[in-house]
Amino acid sequence: MPAHIIDGNQIARAIRAELTQEIEQLKTEYQITPGLATVLVGENPASQSYVRMKNKACHEMGMYSEQHTLPATVSETELLALIAQLNQAKNIHGILVQLPLPKQIDEQKIIEAILPEKDADGFHPMNMGKLLIGLPGFRPCTPYGVQKMLTYSGYDPAGKHVVVVGRSNIVGKPIANLLLQKEKEANATVTVCHSRTANLPEIARQADILIAAIGQPEFITAEMVKDGAVVIDVGVNRVEDPSAPKGYRLVGDVKFDEVAPKCAAISPVPGGVGPMTITMLLHNTVQAARASIRG
Ligand SMILES: NC(=O)c1ccc[n+]([C@@H]2O[C@H](COP(=O)([O-])OP(=O)(O)OC[C@H]3O[C@@H](n4cnc5c(N)ncnc54)[C@H](OP(=O)(O)O)[C@@H]3O)[C@@H](O)[C@H]2O)c1
Repeated sequence: MPAHIIDGNQIARAIRAELTQEIEQLKTEYQITPGLATVLVGENPASQSYVRMKNKACHEMGMYSEQHTLPATVSETELLALIAQLNQAKNIHGILVQLPLPKQIDEQKIIEAILPEKDADGFHPMNMGKLLIGLPGFRPCTPYGVQKMLTYSGYDPAGKHVVVVGRSNIVGKPIANLLLQKEKEANATVTVCHSRTANLPEIARQADILIAAIGQPEFITAEMVKDGAVVIDVGVNRVEDPSAPKGYRLVGDVKFDEVAPKCAAISPVPGGVGPMTITMLLHNTVQAARASIRG
């Protein structure tokens, strides 16, 4: 039987429909329009495109958003001053600083300068700590999106062996921690692999749910995947393609054509995790707006 293609756009639409109702309620009952501030530093084309998509999604949802664009030469002090200003702004409930930042800026310092209650990306150590010990808080958008993709498509991770390939702070580690929690939509047995893992293919082959967050084009091949596994491809890699209009095309971390026939389900790139990431950013911003009512 052909693999079920886990359509991130479709799931994102379902979640956005639920969010639309919540946004309407915030507007009519509390006169609050959820607001997101995006901060873009420099001219990295991928970052520009991500920030553009995030602001566009806010507008489509009837949310407020404002973009702050700073030159690549901006100093850490100037960026911190902007964050301080956004922390105080009453109409801003979520702040997103697009990563990566230029070398002269300490990313961790910037993340820690964002008020945890406006940390729509969920990267602040306070929110990461809450994730680790299972307390409510903002969950990082891409990992949260992966979790929702699984549950919305009927693949409850409970009791399953999940293998996450990649251990970054923004993707691999938080995915592993989310799915490990003793709560619904989680309860998985989790193994995390990375560049120093011995016998990675053998471990990957044990996965009921294999999550690739590596940043290496088409790294996961058919021999690394068990028959009937569910595969979520987080990777977004630009590979040169002279026949493509832009001279490149996007591929994931999974060799889709050879892996898909073995799977029960697989997420494509593009159209998989990407739309989910943006949707969970909207979700976090709406939750931040709701929490602001309680002050
Ligand atoms: N769709 C989305 O919304 C979204 C969002 C964020 C990221 N992404 C994509 O997801 C991918 C991962 O992003 P990231 O920020 O987590 O990347 P990252 O910070 O570069 O981390 C990559 C991880 O993969 C591991 N790795 C690299 N090469 C490996 C190899 N040959 N064998 C085993 N493990 C290997 C690294 O291991 P070590 O720790 O040992 O170095 C590291 O833990 C990228 O393609 C990125 O573009 C997509």
